[in-house]
Amino acid sequence: MLNNEAIKDICKQLKIAYIDDLIETSTTKQKEYIYEVLNAEIEGRKRAKLSKLLKTSNIPQIKTFEGYKFDEIIFPSTCNKERLISLEWIKNKENIVLMGNVGTGKTHMATALSIEACRKGLNVQFFRVSELVETLVYKYNQGNIRQFRNRLKKNELLILDEVGYVPFDKIGSELLFNVISECYEKQSIIVTTNLEFGQWSSVFGDTKLTAALIDRLVHHASIVSFPGESNRLAQALTNQK
Ligand SMILES: Nc1ncnc2c1ncn2[C@@H]1O[C@H](COP(=O)(O)OP(=O)(O)OP(=O)(O)O)[C@@H](O)[C@H]1O
Ligand SMILES: [Mg+2]
Repeated sequence: MLNNEAIKDICKQLKIAYIDDLIETSTTKQKEYIYEVLNAEIEGRKRAKLSKLLKTSNIPQIKTFEGYKFDEIIFPSTCNKERLISLEWIKNKENIVLMGNVGTGKTHMATALSIEACRKGLNVQFFRVSELVETLVYKYNQGNIRQFRNRLKKNELLILDEVGYVPFDKIGSELLFNVISECYEKQSIIVTTNLEFGQWSSVFGDTKLTAALIDRLVHHASIVSFPGESNRLAQALTNQK
């Protein structure tokens, strides 16, 4: 049976402060109706918040874990499928590196995790890393990079997708290093990459900067491996048959 506390609880969530007397004197049927109305408001607010978070997150497309195949993915001892999806690592300000072959589901996984994070009410910013570097360099040249970096700081989760496909010049590498450095132990990052760490200096140029960047990224991180074959290729071959 619905009790007064359940309604008061929901009022608290909605910051409704002056209807306690009305609840106390209501009939059971009236209370049920009040509860239903307030609950509808809670659900509506949740939906509106999710849609705002998804809109501002820059997530490229909606991809979820429904139908996602985990069999070829290798988890480290620090993480498994359940822990990954629970997003507990965001609470602990840990990072996730999704590393492996082309077309194996890294971006799909990063996207699905971003959507999960939005569902939990967290602020997320999804970037193809080359676009982020382009923006950083542009803002730097315009003299308003601080404002942009402050905006990045408001997110609980940043996604740096496709590290490895496009190399960066000196200034781009340094600006990206600063972003990763500022996130260290304060915000979580998901990186997707086709390159093992030993090859990262081919992207960032300077070996010292690359080492310092990897050091910060992996200090509290789980590295998930994607050794499989490309799903794109597999799909294209199936379609041709
Ligand atoms: N494990 C999987 N389960 C279901 N679908 C998958 C899986 N892996 C990949 N796909 C699908 O295959 C396509 C390619 O995946 P995705 O873009 O995530 O690959 P990627 O690892 O990011 O590749 P790249 O390194 O080229 O960016 C997408 O359409 C994705 O939905
Ligand atoms: Mg990808």
